[in-house]
Parts: sequence; structure tokens; C-alpha cells
Amino acid sequence: MFCYHDQFRQELAQCLSLGIKNAFSLEVAWEKIYSLLGPTPSKDAGDIAFPLFIVAKDAKTNPAQAAKSLDAAISELPSFVTSKVAMGPYLNFFFDFSAIAKNLIPSFVSGDFYKQKLSENMPRTMIEYSQPNTHKELHVGHMRNLCYGDALIRLHRYTGFDIVASTFPGDVGTHVAKCLWYLKYHNKEAVPEKRKGAWLGAMYSTAHNKLEEEKGSEKEAQNREQLTMILKQLEQKSGEFFELWKETRQWSIDLMTEIYKWADVKFDVWYWESEVDSDSVKLARDYHEKGLFIEDKGCIGVDLEPYKLGFCMLLKTDGNGLYATKDIELARRKFQDFHIEKNLYVVDKRQEHHFKQVFKVLELMGFENAKKCQHLQYDFVELPDGAMSSRKGNIIPLQSLIENMVKMIKEQYLARYTNEWSPEEIEQTAQIVAKGAIKYGMTRIDPGKKIVFDMKEWLKLDGESGPYIQYAYARINSMVNKLGEPKDLTLKIEMPQEKELVATLMIFHHVVQQATEQYKPSVLTAYLYDLSRAYNSFYAECPVGSSEEPIRSSRLMLSKATALTLKKGLSLLGIEAPEKM
Ligand code: ARG
Repeated sequence: MFCYHDQFRQELAQCLSLGIKNAFSLEVAWEKIYSLLGPTPSKDAGDIAFPLFIVAKDAKTNPAQAAKSLDAAISELPSFVTSKVAMGPYLNFFFDFSAIAKNLIPSFVSGDFYKQKLSENMPRTMIEYSQPNTHKELHVGHMRNLCYGDALIRLHRYTGFDIVASTFPGDVGTHVAKCLWYLKYHNKEAVPEKRKGAWLGAMYSTAHNKLEEEKGSEKEAQNREQLTMILKQLEQKSGEFFELWKETRQWSIDLMTEIYKWADVKFDVWYWESEVDSDSVKLARDYHEKGLFIEDKGCIGVDLEPYKLGFCMLLKTDGNGLYATKDIELARRKFQDFHIEKNLYVVDKRQEHHFKQVFKVLELMGFENAKKCQHLQYDFVELPDGAMSSRKGNIIPLQSLIENMVKMIKEQYLARYTNEWSPEEIEQTAQIVAKGAIKYGMTRIDPGKKIVFDMKEWLKLDGESGPYIQYAYARINSMVNKLGEPKDLTLKIEMPQEKELVATLMIFHHVVQQATEQYKPSVLTAYLYDLSRAYNSFYAECPVGSSEEPIRSSRLMLSKATALTLKKGLSLLGIEAPEKM
């Protein structure tokens, strides 16, 4: 259960609950009221609005009338509320931001705010993400899953969940056979010394294209025969292709490890398709013997027609398992190995049907935990000129993409520091900014929507981008460091920009909670952008260092609170905040 409540909203909601009781003799829990409180259309209309639609319905009156009656029935307001006004179907409240700031900002500045408990007794949860296939290219599209999954893990951990991070790379199957087939029979290039994983991925694409081209030609039969033979060796775990598989698989693992290290992503457990394969076949056979699975044209599976999910094939005529078979064994293992109470899969939306089938089969198998499994899907990444495809040859391998970005950042943003900073500092900052651009860009879009990857856009310092927020942080940080400690803790909040900044800061945990609950890091990215902008407007209108006390200290504290909140928020997306930029 999430237990965090914005203390101000909570107090207001409790006061409203009492007012509703007085005005209409209705019992409405403050938690319910809390969740109904929302923004006003403009600052002139108030700082927070309570809509009366639901209460009016229960009180058998119209919302505008209900707003007036409630307004009249509330005699005492919380100390941080200066006034209230009924506006149509809403009752709006104006805040005393100095009172709120006095209460809140010191805990931001000391860091205590971020140590609060946001939840209680959350279910132990496994989040599986970034499950690329070995022997294939790792490209920018894979970053969406990686960044999304990692942000979910960080958000969940911050809000108090016990999280197990897992991955499940695909290291067996036809894609592997195709790659090895090409390597053995057609490749003339020497294996490079470095970046073997990326090279291998390119080989796979070439293999795939060649096989497609030769379909229908006289070569097709032979190709198919060779592939079958390769797959057989891999299944039997012996022969030259098995040896080649072991060697090349490691190249892919090295590449993944490098990328994970770069992205600062860690898994508590790595499951492998090759490791669940044989047990999954056994499991399917067992259940077939128990009479649960049926036979259809020599294949074994489950008829999911009654659930409009088709036929889920689990054993082929040759007795081998399929992707779904492995997922059934994998789910069983996850619960057994980690005693989890919730099992989340971050996988793109193409696999929606697959997971529906898998979860249904698990349920029919009497696996109680089936209902604790959930597929978190997301849409694709495209390039400005359309979808990525290895055929078109427009796939950007990850390592070269990162290098290009780092180069661009150094040239465009950091060149001016060449004489001031050491080369290490420049390199480090460029890396931080590149990661910020990718991670922010990959999480700022709602998971249900497509992402267009556009390096120039994502690096922009004047649009909604990771670097924009990092830059805002770095600027505040430099200023705050120059100005020293605040001397007067009065906190005077008078300018509209100051009020807006406090109003934004005070909802940080509310936002974090929503992003976590809805599995939408985009809620947090939008907030961080708003906070950066609120700060920039504040900074433009409210001089800090040159102001008199107590204003100077007050603004200094607001600046510190903003910097710390930006830093904390970015960290929940896996993004570092550079000290200077
Ligand atoms: N390796 C798969 C792919 O690249 C994704 C695996 C997703 N996880 C799972 N448990 N099926 O399509």
C-alpha cells in the first residue's frame, strides 16, 4: 500500500471531509477527497480545486449549489490556506506559500524529505527487462526497454518495494542457427579483434537477408537442411556448431555486459533461454501425461479457443519446445527461486498475444501465481525517416551511436571548456550528458506511444530533453556553491514565480508515487521538465545573490531544494546530474 500523502493536501482533505459532513450529513473519507483534489485552471482561480460532482450527486443537488453550501459550512481552514472561493462546480483554495515553504523547504535542503516512507508492505516484485537476443544486433531500439525497465526498478525501490531485477536473453533458436550458418558457410571476413558482439550482430542481419533472398531459389532446400542440422547440434549440445555457439554467445554477452555497465544497469538474476529449455520440455510432457494438454496434428498444446486466444503450441512434432514453453517454465522458476508476489515483464507490444497465452496456460495448469504475472508493454522506436530495419540498413548499432553522441556533445557544448577542464572531466561530462539524453528521451514518452529517436532533438538544451534538465541542475549547483550557506531561515515567498516553484516542489512525492503506480516514468520526466522551467522563470525574475536578507537566504534555499529535487528525480530515471556543464 502506498502510504505517502502530501501533508498539506491531507490536512485540507480532512477539513473538507468535516465540512461535507456538516453541510450534507455525508460521510466521505478524506482519502477519497485527497484523490479528487486537483489543479485549478489558473493561479488567479486558486492553488487547488475540489470538484463537487460526486458529493452533489450523493447530496441530491447540483454541483455549483453544493460548492456554495460547502463553502458556507467550512468555518476553520488549515493554517496554510488563506482563503477559499466557490467557482461553478468547484471549491477553490488559495495557499499561503510562505507557511508551506517554512514547513517543507528545510527538509528538502537537509535531505530528510527524500527519506520519508512512501509505502508499506509492498509485494516482493520481480521486474524482468532488457532481454535482447544473442547473435543479433543491439541497436537504439533496445534502449527503450532498458531505460523503461531500469526506471521502473529505481522508482519501485525508492517508493519502498522489494524488487528483484531480472533479465532473460534469448540465446537459442533459429536466429542463432542463421547466424552460425552464415559464419560457417558464407562469411569471408576475419573475426575482428574488438567488438566481436557488434560484428556478430551484423553477421546475423546479413544471414537473415541472404536466407530471405534465396527463398524460392534452388539454394533453399540446402539452406534449410543446414539450418536443421545446426539446430540439432545445438539441442544435443555437441558438435562443431555447439562449440561455435559457445564461443560466439560469449561475444554477445560481452557486448551486453558492456552496455549494461555503461547504462549503470544491474540485474539480480540472469535467466537464459538455453537454461530453461530442457526443463520446459519436461514440464510440458508431464502436463501432457496428466491429460491437461491436447494433441493436434502431432503437436502438443492447449486449446485456448474458449478464451479467444487460439491454440498455444508447446511441443512440436519433433518433441522440441517453443518460446511459450520456455516462458511457462521460467514463470514457475521465478516464483520458486525468489518467493515473489508479483511478476512483471517489460516486453514490447508485439508479444501481447504471447503473454496472454502463457498466463492463460499457467492458470489452466492450476498455477496460482498466474494472476500475479503481468506484461508491461511499450511501443516501438522509430527513426525520423521511419521504422528501423536491418534490411534497409538503417539500424544504428548502440556502441557507435553512443560514440557519435559523445563526440557531438564535446564539440557543441563542451568545446568552450577545453582550457578550463581536464580531458577526463570533459569526457566524463560528455558521457553523463549522452546517457541523460538517451535515458530521458526513452522514458519521456508514454509507454503506449511510439518514440522517434532523433539525436539532435534529444540533445537540445532548449527543448524538453535530458540535457536541458541536467543543464538546469548544473547551473543552480554552480550558483548555490558560490553563494554559500543561507543565513536567515525565515523563507519569504511573495513573487508568483516563487510560489510556482514551491507549488511544484511540494508535489514531488505525489508525482513519484503516480509514476510508480501507473508504470509510467513519463509522469516523472514531465514533472522534472516543469520543475526546471519553473526554476528558470524564477531565476529570470527573482535575483538571488544580489537580494537583501531574508529574501536572499529564502531564494537560496529554494534554489538548493530545486537542485536536490532535480538530482533525486533524475536518479530515479538512472540519470546523473553533472556538477557543472
Ligand atoms: N528475447 C525475447 C525477444 O527478444 C524477449 C524475451 C521476453 N521475456 C520473456 N520472458 N519472454 O523477443
